[in-house]
Amino acid sequence: MLIQKQVNLQPWHTFSTASTAAELVQVSSQKEALEAMSAWQEKPYLVLGGGSNLLFVHEKIERVLKISLTGVAPVEESSEHVVVDVAAGVSWHEWVMQSLENAWFGLENLALIPGQVGAAPMQNIGAYGVEVRHFIDSVEAIDRKTQHIHRISNSDCAFGYRSSAFKTAWKNRYVISSVRFRLAKAKHKINHEYGAIKEELSQMGIHPDGASPSEVAQAVMAIRKSKLPDPKEIGNAGSFFKNPSVAPELAEALKSKHPNMPHYPSEEAGRVKLAAGWLIEQAGWKGFREGDAGVHVRQALVLVNYGSASGQQIWNLAGQIQRSVQQQFGVELEPEVNAI
Ligand code: EPU
Repeated sequence: MLIQKQVNLQPWHTFSTASTAAELVQVSSQKEALEAMSAWQEKPYLVLGGGSNLLFVHEKIERVLKISLTGVAPVEESSEHVVVDVAAGVSWHEWVMQSLENAWFGLENLALIPGQVGAAPMQNIGAYGVEVRHFIDSVEAIDRKTQHIHRISNSDCAFGYRSSAFKTAWKNRYVISSVRFRLAKAKHKINHEYGAIKEELSQMGIHPDGASPSEVAQAVMAIRKSKLPDPKEIGNAGSFFKNPSVAPELAEALKSKHPNMPHYPSEEAGRVKLAAGWLIEQAGWKGFREGDAGVHVRQALVLVNYGSASGQQIWNLAGQIQRSVQQQFGVELEPEVNAI
């Protein structure tokens, strides 16, 4: 266990805004996590994974528990499936690559998502037509109050679009210590329905129907690299807002004014999903910059820190964007990033 005081958090999160933790405890095993959690008991603390989906609005934070548990261990295998436990501190992308190298299929569309494995169930990460919930068997989580270890089944996680019980009913109740995946070894049907994947595969000279899971991962990585800023170069936390689900009447009214507006069926029955990036671009924000806080030039859904923006400046910009989209389209944007 590594205990540090007065830690500059800039290198620990992808938005790279300035903030300081009075105490940061880094744990590398379940035993260390239990020790640190029982020492803090009910004192509030932030659980930090890869720091790729949060914005420190305040510059001072008391306690941070940094999850660095590693290890990948198959627990069950047949000719068709494998069930694997992956520790919460494993890098998400490295796990995706490792799964493909082992010819365990399912996670290929989720290549290159930043962050650690423990955060994947938290917000049910998703990209290019696939959500991680379809490949999670169960989650191992430690109760913050009792330090009891629970195995929570997929159905009890209440997964939804960028959501789970860990973000809603059980907010701040558990620390996720490992995730059990169920992946295919045979008869895996790849998902290349997302238009951009088909286009990218064709450009790679591969017919979408004959593409292998690794080729799909390569296509996804190429698309992400072309559209999304690399946090190592420009601070960001991916999509800042969720794509909103609106009433069909509002969607119809907007479609008649803007016939090219992207819209999709929503997982919420009877509602229509809109593309937040499109709404933000139409409202004139794409490429906007004030000081070092800005809206990415190639993907308006991504807010960026060009260097020395503060968390508060990014948060203020997010508020301006929300008000402007509300005024112009009557649509409420909800942050996807966790504001701390
Ligand atoms: N669009 C614009 N202008 C923009 C951005 C997007 O007009 O500046 C339009 C696009 O042309 C397209 C539509 O909006 O018609 C959707 O855009 P895109 O395919 O880029 O995806 P997205 O809806 O903006 C979502 C996820 C991403 C994920 C991609 C691909 C959310 C909040 N975001 O973005 O996830 O990579 O789909 O599946 O659901 C993340 O969560 O951090 C993230 C990057």
